[in-house]
Amino acid sequence: MTTQHKATLSFSDGTPSVELPIHKGTMGPDVVDIRKLYGASGKFTFDPGFLSTAACESKITYIDGDKGELLYRGFPIEQLAVNCDYLETCYLLLNGDLPNEAQRKDFENRVLKHTMIHEQMTRFFAGFRRDAHPMAILVGCVGALSAFYHDSLDIQNPEHRFVSAIRLIAKMPTMVAMAYKYSVGQPFMYPRNDLSYAGNFMRMMFGTPCEEYQVNPVLERALDRILILHADHEQNASTSTVRLAGSSGANPFACIAAGIATLWGPAHGGANEACLVMLGEIQQQGGIEKIGDFIANVKDKNSGVKLMGFGHRVYKNYDPRAKLMRETCYEVLGELGLENDPLFALAMKLEQIALEDEYFVQRKLYPNVDFYSGIVQRALGIPTEMFTCIFALARTVGWIAQWGEMIGEPDQKIGRPRQLFTGSTRREVVPIAQR
Ligand SMILES: CC(C)(COP(=O)(O)OP(=O)(O)OC[C@H]1O[C@@H](n2cnc3c(N)ncnc32)[C@H](O)[C@@H]1OP(=O)(O)O)[C@@H](O)C(=O)NCCC(=O)NCCS
Repeated sequence: MTTQHKATLSFSDGTPSVELPIHKGTMGPDVVDIRKLYGASGKFTFDPGFLSTAACESKITYIDGDKGELLYRGFPIEQLAVNCDYLETCYLLLNGDLPNEAQRKDFENRVLKHTMIHEQMTRFFAGFRRDAHPMAILVGCVGALSAFYHDSLDIQNPEHRFVSAIRLIAKMPTMVAMAYKYSVGQPFMYPRNDLSYAGNFMRMMFGTPCEEYQVNPVLERALDRILILHADHEQNASTSTVRLAGSSGANPFACIAAGIATLWGPAHGGANEACLVMLGEIQQQGGIEKIGDFIANVKDKNSGVKLMGFGHRVYKNYDPRAKLMRETCYEVLGELGLENDPLFALAMKLEQIALEDEYFVQRKLYPNVDFYSGIVQRALGIPTEMFTCIFALARTVGWIAQWGEMIGEPDQKIGRPRQLFTGSTRREVVPIAQR
């Protein structure tokens, strides 16, 4: 970071002006460094939702929403998605560069050989109600991992941080598949280390002990791509939560559980589930015939209806991940012969109408990654309530890379936002008999 310019903040209430340094990163908006502001002026800044606040310095992921650009450690997502697999992407996010062949083999070996979880963990799963939401199970069970892996919890030790990162990446597929198996009452499937990361996960999800499970390479690649596209997305709500939880020195398993809890919300990881629910509703109302009515409703501001899976807070251009997911979506539907499935046909028609309709074109409302990833996951046979779990599985590497970056900073501080207090001023307690 370089610092050449300054901003001067002046006040109309007589407080002397404050000079604030402006830092320049390698890309993206400059930042005004307000760390000295309170000491110099006795004032805080006010920015609920962090709309204008950079809460950290990071070298991991860069997004340019206007250009529709997403870079992991400088590499465009489009290039990573076609040239690398998920584990190479994990290595990149964690280590800062892509692995060479020897590094790739070593990393793959470490992850794929640590996929089993402690056998006692199965009792945690069994403690949940049969109909528990898989995300509820995941939040609880990932947090519980910290009770099993004490030997890697010294967060000041880089080797411990690395071991915890590998454990989390390696065991998440097992945990997610167990959450699913528990919900459908099938036996847990032990991992198979000779399969790829995605292939092993598919087998643990869809295989049973009764017969051999054959991994379909087209579907395996599709799942791997979903994982790559969701691996990190800089300082979103769940990642910021992981950083804030980690800033107190909490262990990484607990921090990732906090991230999973945040991801669960419909405004974050729940969007693709919401998209599938919307498609189901249109289908119930009459399907393709009724798309016109539905779109008219979406355009009517008083209806409160939104076209789920369209638009993005950051991308005001085609989300680069959506382009890649669209490609995968067509590939998967073709492979499974689902092009004419009514729900998929409906989704494709909706995509076509929305891409041509003036309302969406004018507002730059493109289909987002969730629109396509929901369709792909449904085609893969993943039930909608599992979608956010898959997202959590993919994002675990991003969370742990961001957490590790923060803990590795020499002057890392506990996160402690301030507030604008608007409650009651000091008053005296009146004894209950006189109230
Ligand atoms: C993601 C989202 C919250 C971003 O919202 P935002 O940044 O507030 O979008 P903007 O305010 O820039 O929207 C601009 C205009 O498009 C409209 N708009 C945005 N998304 C829309 C959608 N999905 N359907 C219909 N209209 C939409 C807004 O009403 C606004 O219209 P106006 O200018 O006439 O008032 C929003 O697009 C949305 O709710 N999408 C559906 C949910 C979804 O898919 N979320 C996953 C995101 S990965």
